[in-house]
Amino acid sequence: MTATQTEPSTGIATHQVALSFEDGVTRFITVREDQTVADASYRQRINIPLDCRDGACGTCKALCESGEYDGGTYIEDALSEAEAAEGYALPCSMKPRSDLALQIATTSEVAKTGAASYTGTVVGLDRLSPTTVELAIDIPNRGELAFLPGQYVNIAVPGTEVTRSYSFANAPHEERLVFLVKLTPGGAMSTWLTERAAVGDEVTFTGPNGSFFLREARRPVLMLAGGTGLAPVLSMLRQLDVDGCDRGGRLVYGVSTDDDLVKLDEVEELVSRLPGFTWDHCVSDPASTAANKGYVMSLIGDEDLHDGDVAIYLCGPPPMVEAVRTHVAGAGIEPTGFYYEKFALAVPAAEASAPSAEASPASAEAS
Ligand SMILES: Cc1cc2nc3c(=O)[nH]c(=O)nc-3n(C[C@H](O)[C@H](O)[C@H](O)COP(=O)(O)OP(=O)(O)OC[C@H]3O[C@@H](n4cnc5c(N)ncnc54)[C@H](O)[C@@H]3O)c2cc1C
Ligand code: FES
Repeated sequence: MTATQTEPSTGIATHQVALSFEDGVTRFITVREDQTVADASYRQRINIPLDCRDGACGTCKALCESGEYDGGTYIEDALSEAEAAEGYALPCSMKPRSDLALQIATTSEVAKTGAASYTGTVVGLDRLSPTTVELAIDIPNRGELAFLPGQYVNIAVPGTEVTRSYSFANAPHEERLVFLVKLTPGGAMSTWLTERAAVGDEVTFTGPNGSFFLREARRPVLMLAGGTGLAPVLSMLRQLDVDGCDRGGRLVYGVSTDDDLVKLDEVEELVSRLPGFTWDHCVSDPASTAANKGYVMSLIGDEDLHDGDVAIYLCGPPPMVEAVRTHVAGAGIEPTGFYYEKFALAVPAAEASAPSAEASPASAEAS
């Protein structure tokens, strides 16, 4: 997240507050330390749910997933002690003391906002391996695009009517937007990338989206990346690096074949700068030349689960995500934070019913 700024006209500190809506859209607002989140939100034309505006009705109740705040004054009927202890707060009363991430209990449409749209230029198109492409995009108004490490955007595939979701591999503070794409033969985005795309092409995307993002906390992390699920994890590692993280943790990166292994040097360099952090990788193909053949679960030790006092970030193809969830549940561990994202294939509109990005409903992590 961005560092604290000061409003030039008043000299009062301001913070970035991420409002995540139920439909996956995230909007960022700037909130002064002497201002409530609700006031700042309305000034910035985002109608979060509100009624009394006075800490009496509970209509605005929101889960704060990350950051510090002054909860303000309110009555027990609006927010119970137990709810406050779980991380719930009242935006009409709360004032930020750091950057915050809030879950707003409505859709972006009801709040009369929506995902912002950006247009940029392809500045890099690198075939990292036979199966994986790195796509780099510059946008002229980069300062207007705030996101949380782990989030994704929906990119319109040029020359088609379809969009596909891709997670940022760069950290929020980095100027250039970088995405890792696993090529799927016959796929819309994959065909564009391999047959038509060129440096200089114009690309449009909307976002940021998603509740799979790095929470600020002091407990260790366990990151599990399957295939190009490495992209959001790279964004998180870069953020931990700039934050000077010393919470320790482990990354396990697993792929199907040797052709899918990318960015090993970059991961090694990043992890080597994070105290108490370890990592390893594995390949499930028995014909692989990798030292570890198998699935990510084989590289998770009891010590990596810290008796449950750990935040798990899990991202990759749906079968991998399901296998790891089953494995963790089977280990009898209830991690304090468990966040995951499935890189589900787009389904034709008529078949689409459930949202493709998910976070565990019980994923609230005390900040
Ligand atoms: C939140 C989110 C984040 C993601 N982030 C990334 C990322 O960072 N990197 C990444 O590589 N991928 C990511 N994905 C997956 C990505 O969005 C695309 O699904 C993937 O890249 C394939 O896109 P495509 O256009 O090339 O293929 P598509 O056109 O989607 O087709 C893929 C293949 O599947 C077949 N297919 C399509 N629909 C169906 C269906 N309903 N049933 C069966 N087969 C079907 C097609 O024929 C084709 O062979 C993410 C997905 C989600 C939901
Ligand atoms: S709007 Fe009533 S408690 Fe916030």
